[in-house]
Amino acid sequence: MSPQTIELIANVELFSGLDQDELRSIAQLVHVRHIEREGKIFDAGDRADAVYIVSKGKVNIVITSPDGKELILAVLGEGQIFGEMGLLEAAPRSASVVAATQVELLSISRSDFDQLLDQHPRISRKLLAVISQRLRRANAKMESLAYMDVAGRLARYFLDLARDHGQKLGNGWVVVRRPTHSEIAHSIGTSRETVSRLINDFEERLGMANQGRFTYIREDLLS
Ligand code: CMP
Repeated sequence: MSPQTIELIANVELFSGLDQDELRSIAQLVHVRHIEREGKIFDAGDRADAVYIVSKGKVNIVITSPDGKELILAVLGEGQIFGEMGLLEAAPRSASVVAATQVELLSISRSDFDQLLDQHPRISRKLLAVISQRLRRANAKMESLAYMDVAGRLARYFLDLARDHGQKLGNGWVVVRRPTHSEIAHSIGTSRETVSRLINDFEERLGMANQGRFTYIREDLLS
């Protein structure tokens, strides 16, 4: 077990507040995996036998309709956990998970994770908070899919992106390594062509920039 693994674990929200001995014992449980961009981590319906923590990069949580349309439910980044639902419910995977960038993951087996939750009520409480926050976000997404037109959904998408992954600059935010138009389309339930057309429109009217690896989002995008 390397000092880097302990440092990675110390940065995971779920494990914050644990002492060095506890972090060291968790570090002994994890296995490190590297996945190339677009590599599949698992498919919806697969048997669930481990949880994963993203230590580098980003993953997309994806569901696919019977006619092959993909919807990205969430993008998870460094320090975030996935795969907990299959373990907690003893049910198959509820969604597929695909690497959005090159990714490094820490996996913990089902039996080790069960033991961790039994031994550390603090980790269990934090996990409940994570799941509650995801339900809140899923509700907000359902609201925007049900009540907003595509332009509104795109504006909401950029504001969430700014808050989650942006750095403040002037009266807006800069996001490095912006998502592709296709990823955005799959997140808000529309076509790539519509996303490209609306982004051109936002650029002309709202001073938003979406070039190279960067997106610049102005604070007044939704107003
Ligand atoms: P599991 O069902 O084991 O496998 C897919 C994982 O995707 C799931 O556990 C959660 O960790 C994650 N997941 C499913 N739905 C969402 C969502 N709406 N937001 C964030 N993560 C999710």
